[in-house]
Amino acid sequence: MSELVVVSNRGPATFSVGKDGELVARHGAGGLAPSLLNALAGSDALWIATAMSEGDRRAARQGVPASLSGGSELRLVELAPEVQEAAYHVVANGTLWFLYHGLFDRARHPVFDARWHEAWDGYRQFNRALAEEVARCADEGATVVVNDYHLALVGGFLASLRPDLRTVHFHHTPFCDPEELRVLPSAVARELVTSLASFGACGFHTERWADQFRQCAAAVLDKVPEVFHAPLGTDAEALRAVAASPGCSARRADLLERLEGRSLLFRSDRVELSKNLLRGFLAYEELLEADPGLRDRVTFIARTYPSREDIPEYIAYRHEVERLVDRVNERFGAADHLPIVLEVADDFEASVAALSCYDVLLVNPIRDGMNLVAKEGPAVNDRDGVLALSREAGAFAELGTSALEIEPFDVQGTAAVLSRALAMAPDERAVRAKTVAEIAISRPPARWFEEVAGAARRPSRAGGAGRS
Ligand code: G6P
Repeated sequence: MSELVVVSNRGPATFSVGKDGELVARHGAGGLAPSLLNALAGSDALWIATAMSEGDRRAARQGVPASLSGGSELRLVELAPEVQEAAYHVVANGTLWFLYHGLFDRARHPVFDARWHEAWDGYRQFNRALAEEVARCADEGATVVVNDYHLALVGGFLASLRPDLRTVHFHHTPFCDPEELRVLPSAVARELVTSLASFGACGFHTERWADQFRQCAAAVLDKVPEVFHAPLGTDAEALRAVAASPGCSARRADLLERLEGRSLLFRSDRVELSKNLLRGFLAYEELLEADPGLRDRVTFIARTYPSREDIPEYIAYRHEVERLVDRVNERFGAADHLPIVLEVADDFEASVAALSCYDVLLVNPIRDGMNLVAKEGPAVNDRDGVLALSREAGAFAELGTSALEIEPFDVQGTAAVLSRALAMAPDERAVRAKTVAEIAISRPPARWFEEVAGAARRPSRAGGAGRS
C-alpha cells in the first residue's frame, strides 16, 4: 500500500525481453518522465502505468512492481489490446490530442461514428482499470497524482471507489476553449469535464490553459472545480551533468567541427503535427531566398524523434517534412554544405550537445502545454544563444519577455525573427540568454511536483461540482 501514487499512461521505464528471456528495464532518456522520477526521489512513491511493449506485458503479468531509481516502484497494468488501441490511439492521441492542440482539419475530422463511440467505451474501460489499480494499491487517505489526457475519467471512478483519497489531475498539454469543446458530442464533453471535475483539483502548466478549462467547466457544469496552474521548469543539474559527460562533450566537439564556423540554428522536437516543423522550414527557406549571404553562413540542424507512427497523419506529416527539407537543400545546398540537416533518431546525448552550443533555438509550436526544450536549451547553452519562441507555447508565459516572439502561422514573420536572431549583437544576446536561463531553471521538477501533489484534495460530491 502506498501513500503517494503517480499514474500515467506511459511509465518512466519500459521492459524488453533479453536474450536469455529475462526482462531488461530501460529508463526513458529525456522529457518529463525522467525529471518526474528525480523529483520523486526518496518519496517511496508507487507509479502505475500501462504495459505498452511485449516486455511490459510480461512484467505486468509477473505482478511484482519493478524498482525505479530513487526508491519508487513501477506497477504496470495490462489491458486487452482492443481496449488499449481504442483508448490510446483512437481517443487519447487521435481525438483529445488534436482537440487540445487545435489540430483538427474540421472539414474532414473528427468523425464520431459508431466505431468512435465504441472506442470511447474502450477509453472508459481503460480509465476504470487504472482507477481500480489505484484503489487497490493506495493507502487510506493517500495522495494520487494522475497525469494527462489519457486518464481524464480516472477522477470519476476514484471518487466513487475511494472517496478517501486526495486526488489531483495534471494536464501536460494545453486545454481547448468552450467553442472547440463543442466539437465533441455533448454527452462525451459532459462526461469528460465532469470526470475531470471529480478530481480534488485540476492543474495545468499555465494560467491560459487553466482558464480555458475553467471556462469549459463553467459551460458544462453548474459549479467550477478547483483549478490551478503550476509551470514545470527544467532539471538543470541533471541536464548539465549530461552536457558535461564525455559522450556529450565528444558529440559537441564533432558538431562544432562539422559546422566549420557557421552559425547553428537548431530545433529539437518529436515529429509531431503540433510542433510546426513545416512552417519552421518554410520560414528558413524564405530567409535564404531573401538573404543569399546567409546560405553559406548558417546550418539548420533539426534533431527530431519519431513519434506515434501508427497514426496515419503522423506518417504523412513526416514524409511532408522530409520532402520540404529535400527541396530547400536542393535549392540552396552546395557540394560541401547542406542548409538543413534533418536527423530522425532518439539520441538524447546528441540533442543535449546541440542545445549546449546553438546560436538560435527555434521553438515554434502551433500550441503546446509547456515545451520543455524551450527551457532545456537556455539551461545548458553556453554561447548566449537566442531563443525564438512561439507565443502559443506554455513556456512563453514565463520566457516571452526575453525570447524573440514567434507567431507560429506567420511564415514571413518567423523568417524575420530568425534573421533578427542570427544578426543580434553580442550584448543583447548575453542579456537575453542570461534572463531566459534564470527563468528556465527557477522551478525544478521537485518543486513543481511538491506544488502539484500539495494541490491534491478529496473529491467533491456528485457530478463534479467543485468547492470554489
Ligand atoms: C508528449 C506530451 C505529454 C504526453 C506524451 C504522450 O510528450 O507532452 O503530455 O503524455 O506526449 O506521448 P506518447 O508517446 O506516449 O503518445
